[in-house]
Parts: sequence; structure tokens; C-alpha cells
Amino acid sequence: MSAPKKLFIKTYGCQMNVYDSERMAEALGTKGYEQTTDADQADMILLNTCHIREKAAEKMYSELGRLKQFKLAKPEMKFAVAGCVAQAEGGEIIERQPMVDLVVGPQSYHRLPKMADAIDRGEKAIDTDFPEEDKFEELKDRPKARRAPSAFLTVQEGCDKFCTFCVVPYTRGAEVSRPVDRILREARELVERGVAEINLLGQNVNAYHGEGPDGDWTLAQLIREMATIEGLERIRFTTSHPRDMEQDLIDAHGDCAKLMPYLHLPVQSGSDKILKAMNRGHTREEYFALIKRIRDVRPDLLLSGDFIVGFPGETEEDFMDTMDLVEQVGFGQAYSFKYSTRPGTPAAERAQVDEDVKSERLQRLQALLGKQQKAAQDAMVGRETTVLFEKQGRDPGQLIGKSENLHAVHAFADKSLIGTVRRVRVIKSLTNSLTGELI
Ligand code: 5AD
Ligand code: SF4
Repeated sequence: MSAPKKLFIKTYGCQMNVYDSERMAEALGTKGYEQTTDADQADMILLNTCHIREKAAEKMYSELGRLKQFKLAKPEMKFAVAGCVAQAEGGEIIERQPMVDLVVGPQSYHRLPKMADAIDRGEKAIDTDFPEEDKFEELKDRPKARRAPSAFLTVQEGCDKFCTFCVVPYTRGAEVSRPVDRILREARELVERGVAEINLLGQNVNAYHGEGPDGDWTLAQLIREMATIEGLERIRFTTSHPRDMEQDLIDAHGDCAKLMPYLHLPVQSGSDKILKAMNRGHTREEYFALIKRIRDVRPDLLLSGDFIVGFPGETEEDFMDTMDLVEQVGFGQAYSFKYSTRPGTPAAERAQVDEDVKSERLQRLQALLGKQQKAAQDAMVGRETTVLFEKQGRDPGQLIGKSENLHAVHAFADKSLIGTVRRVRVIKSLTNSLTGELI
């Protein structure tokens, strides 16, 4: 038998890419590939890319440039590019960087085993189709190896919202929800393999409307059914759109004990004018009202958001509306970005805000969000929460896990507790984590 080939994967961007990377590793596993953490040892290097902002694509090209040295040292090494840059640029990647052997989009990676054969024959392989067949069905049998306690499970892909800044509707295509039975089957398999927490993923996960036994199910229905799986302790979902935050999902936050009190609900801007120009489909007042309804049922929910500053047409007054929204809502976690032009999207054609102005606004916004994030973390000190322990910490005898609000928590505990949910009292707030003690 030939020795296993080594696969090195580097993942950029969102959690859906993390999930896709796992599934691509499994698909290539059928061709004898095993994952390695040493790029220079690899027989294949796979970059799973993100196209959401300009720099991400540029980062990929510079990473390829940097990796070229490995190819020089080991000429038989193969290079693959997957993800949304692969989808958007296709064969151009090979033109710009001829050492790349394989380009595969996010909707066609179930074909990787065949593509691996082709590159073994010395051919180039490019597939950026949106095929009819369901890639998850083609990839159905996940290997039975033990898994880390927290896992991602993609339930919905693509987006029909067409925010005017965003490439996702073009790179990931139209919105598609996976059928309920397939998701539940995958969830049960994950639990059998040691998973205690499942994070349901989708570009617009709360728009989920997958085929169920009696018509289409909502995300809330799916979550409630999933909550009946014995051994599954926690459920999360991300990313949501304010427009799809229906009452049944809000209710689930109030009465489904396994659904964790954390919600990523991007608002992007606090200015009605900019929200409209972004095609977000709601006003700031509607966002406030929505947050109030959610907090009424779950006061301890930690809210997370995404923000874009310097969107075309954003004035200082518009930006101050965003600052004011942040002040009023209070975010325990947030991601904020300077607007970046994406070719082919409507906003790319509009008059742009000066780069220095964008940088200055981003700094002010991040200072405010950072303060709120720290305050939310500090407020945990003295409180009790549950923690799902995921792995050993750096200090001997310490484990690291996540609280209900998704704060990282360290605590002294026996490593047999990895994979279990325990009650913990928080005793200290550090820079990016909490220290707790078992109760
Ligand atoms: N420029 C800046 N940020 C963007 N995002 C999406 N597209 C762009 C863009 N063109 C941000 C949004 C989104 C997150 C995933 O990335 O805030 O919610
Ligand atoms: Fe992009 Fe808007 Fe769709 Fe989110 S909702 S993926 S930001 S188009």
C-alpha cells in the first residue's frame, strides 16, 4: 500500500469555509490524502479562499507567491484553490499563478476526488459550476473518527438579498436550504462521534426553509427538532439577517434550553439613508424594535454585529447615526470593516468615500465597539455560566471552553471533562478570555 499523501489546508474567511474545508479534506481522504499542519511536507496545498473584501483575494495571491518556495523544493507538490475567489476568478488564477493545478468553487467540491485524479495525470482541473446535484448528498458518508466537541453544520447556502456592497449572491449563488432529514442525519452522526455543540451555518441562516416531512420547515422548527437529539447539549446558528428574524425564532431563544444566548445579527449601518442605499430592507427603528423583542424573551443574550464604514455616500452625520445605534443597542461582540469596492456589485459604481475618512471612522467605531465588548466580558465576573470544554489550555491542568455567550473560558479541570458542559463561576476577565472555576 502506498503511504498516505499529505494535504495542507489554509482557510480564509467565514465559518462556512471552515466547514467546507473539513468536507474537502474528507473528500480528498478518499484519494489517500491525510491532513498535515506542515505546509512544506505537503503533497497538496489547498487554499480555501474568501472574496468578501478586496484584501482577501490579494492575500491569497501573495500567499501563493510565498508558497512557491515549497514548490521549488518539491516540484511534485500540487496546488489547489477553492472557495469564493476560485468561484469568481476561475481559470484566471492559473493564468496569474501557473503553479496552481486545481481550481474548485464552493458548489462543486464534491467532485474533488475526480479532479485529484486529473491533476495526478498532469492535467489542470477547473470546476466552478453550480451543479444540479446536491454536493452534500454526494459527500454523505462522513468518516466515523472522533470529532472535536463543537462542530459546524451547513444548513443553507447562498443569498438572494443582493445588498449592494456584497459579492455573496454572485459567488455563492441563489439561496438553497438543505432538507430537514439530511441535516438531522448529519447532526446525529456528529453527536455519535462526540460532538456536543452544533453551530448551524448559512449565509442567511434564519431564512432557512428546508423541505420537511410536512412542507417547508423554518429554522426554529429545525432547532426544536434538533434539540431532541440526546447527547447534543448546545445549538447555535449564524449568520442571520434582521429581515428574517421571525417570531418563532425569537420564541425559541426564550424557551429552547439548548439554544445558546448569542446572536449574530449584522446591521451594517445606523443611518436610514445608508441602509436604503445598501438595500438592507429595514430601518434603524425597525432594528431597535427587533432587538427589544429579542431581549424581552432573553435578557442575557449577547448580541454580535457586522458594520461597514465609508459606504458610498456616507456623510459624517450618517456615520454618527451608526455610532448612536451602537451606543443605544450595545454589542458584546462585533466585526467592522471599511467599505471595499467589489467589481460587479452596484455600490462599486458609486462615488467613493475618501480612504483616510474611512480609516478614521473605522478607528472611532472600533474604539466604541471594543469598549462595549470589554464591558460585556467584564460583566461576567462573579456570575455563573455553563462552559463546554473543548481542549487543554496552555497552562498545565487548564482546559479551555466556551461560555453560553461564546466567551472563551479557562479553568483548572481534569482533561476527562473535555467534551462535557459544566457549571463554572467566572472569577476574572482577561484580554480576550475569562478565567473560571468549576462549581
Ligand atoms: N466591503 C466591506 N465589508 C463587506 N462585507 C461584505 N461585503 C463587504 C464589502 N464590500 C462585510 C459585511 C458582512 C460581512 C460578512 O462582511 O459586514 O456582514
Ligand atoms: Fe451579502 Fe447581504 Fe446576502 Fe449577507 S444578506 S450575504 S451581506 S447580500
